[in-house]
Amino acid sequence: MTKIAFMSAKGGVGKTALSVAVASATAAEGRTVALVDTDPQISGSATPWLRRVENTTLMPPTLSYWDAGSTEAAVSGLPSLDADHDFVILDTPPRLDEVSLRTIASLVDLVVVPTTTSDQDMEAAMQTIVSIRTKNKPVIVITQAPPSAMHDAHALQTQLRERGFRVANTITRSLVAARRAYRFGVLPHQVPDQNAVSDVINLTTEILTAAAN
Ligand SMILES: Nc1ncnc2c1ncn2[C@@H]1O[C@H](COP(=O)(O)OP(=O)(O)OP(=O)(O)O)[C@@H](O)[C@H]1O
Ligand SMILES: [Mg+2]
Repeated sequence: MTKIAFMSAKGGVGKTALSVAVASATAAEGRTVALVDTDPQISGSATPWLRRVENTTLMPPTLSYWDAGSTEAAVSGLPSLDADHDFVILDTPPRLDEVSLRTIASLVDLVVVPTTTSDQDMEAAMQTIVSIRTKNKPVIVITQAPPSAMHDAHALQTQLRERGFRVANTITRSLVAARRAYRFGVLPHQVPDQNAVSDVINLTTEILTAAAN
């Protein structure tokens, strides 16, 4: 069983979009996946999203803030998922304090830290990684890059690597179909845009490989 957490001290960087994307693309490959939603937000979190999806192999979270009553209680239920799942993917809330960041990070095989190309989000990603201090280096994923400015996203990727950070090769693009996935209750690997789908598939392959090593 492999556990992966999507975390950042910053809000709105794509934790939910990417955790649902990686979880659902993995489930579509025939693996048993539990998505754990530790976010108390009523809107924009994984639970209301997955409840609207029809005909899916990825069920709404079996473990969530809403059932457990708190982020800590949801996290403490993780061992109960071990026996029945190949993968457990955690979506986490923004603005976790340093102790909570470290606690969650210590329970998983890999931490994924999404960032957009904005300087503020990138700083938050680096700060999150410094706070976490895990043995397995967290992976930064550059998300929502404007397709017209991919050169800027690649420059950021190079800069982060030069500073010693581990950065996914896949940069997910900012695409209308990806943005609408939550609104229409569609899974990210099933949106009607081949570019958005290929971003999800490429990223999922990379993340699963990183989590296994
Ligand atoms: N590839 C993409 N293209 C376009 N829009 C995107 C993409 N990925 C995410 N978004 C949009 O960006 C916004 C923020 O994404 P998301 O909710 O996943 O961030 P988050 O880090 O989970 O936020 P929070 O910290 O509030 O939980 C959402 O409106 C989402 O639809
Ligand atoms: Mg979220």
